[in-house]
Amino acid sequence: NLYRIKQTRADTTVLGLISKPVGHSKSPLLHNAALKSAGVNAVYVPFLVDDLPSFLKAFSCPDFAGIRSLNLGFHYFLCIHVVCRISISVNVIDFSVGIPHKVTAVTCCDEVDPIAKCIGAVNTIVRRSSDGKLVGYNTDYVGSISAIEDGIRVLTGLIGNQTIELPLAGRLFVVIGAGGAGKALAYGAKEKGTRVIIANRTYDKAKELANLVGADALPLTDLESFHPEKGMVLANTTSLGMQPNVNETPLAKSCLGRYDLVFDAVYTPKETRLLTFKRSKRDWSYHCSWSGNVH
Ligand code: ATR
Repeated sequence: NLYRIKQTRADTTVLGLISKPVGHSKSPLLHNAALKSAGVNAVYVPFLVDDLPSFLKAFSCPDFAGIRSLNLGFHYFLCIHVVCRISISVNVIDFSVGIPHKVTAVTCCDEVDPIAKCIGAVNTIVRRSSDGKLVGYNTDYVGSISAIEDGIRVLTGLIGNQTIELPLAGRLFVVIGAGGAGKALAYGAKEKGTRVIIANRTYDKAKELANLVGADALPLTDLESFHPEKGMVLANTTSLGMQPNVNETPLAKSCLGRYDLVFDAVYTPKETRLLTFKRSKRDWSYHCSWSGNVH
């Protein structure tokens, strides 16, 4: 039922997640439920992939036979089953891209969207229907930025108020970390009209990212003494607080009261120590995490 194999036909659109590991992902569940509810003739399949270029090459031919040479793990049977049913005519094929293929995907696409190029990572590949070319995008930051925007609306009691279209604009947005996730968040925050500050352990990397997106840089150790202002937002994009180092936080508890909203990009646990600290600071605080949990 999850993959709706019985419903796949020759004209079924194949969508899927290319990743390794892939079994932990909730994407198939989410996307197949959405496709079903919207009545879209498509199926979303998890692909356990070692070699992204070979995988994409195999999928660029109209017959999916090439897929058999790939390491698809326990999804092998499932994929072949789907393949058999759709091998006559392949509809548009779009992919989500996960660990560890996001950076490699940039070089595997025929074209890369300017935002994805700037971030240096692709998490979505779309086959353009007009010419069949693979176009890479990065949508990683979109969900997190909109969760943060919703959070601001909740905090200001203005949810549903149509006049607050730009809840982030003009605010100071502090991004901790300058890796892939930091880049995506900084880029997204900048796009929303915030003033971005990148705080990173390695100051040079903070400066490099700040130059790239038009932000200011700060050594992480200076963030505690940073002069606060009203309405600030904090986003942690480092692995501090992630399993197994669940007791770590990038910033002391005493500093968290300065921020209107705290976002944590750590996927597991859902409630990091940073978020717990923030919650204990103010009853009304709203915080959210990368895994889509909004409290
Ligand atoms: P991702 O793609 O998930 O963002 P990454 O590119 O490896 O992962 O980046 C990890 C980020 O977490 C970096 O900003 C890193 O800081 P450095 O640039 O100094 O390496 C930050 N980070 C990781 N471990 C950290 C720690 N123990 N203390 C502070 N920052 C840390």
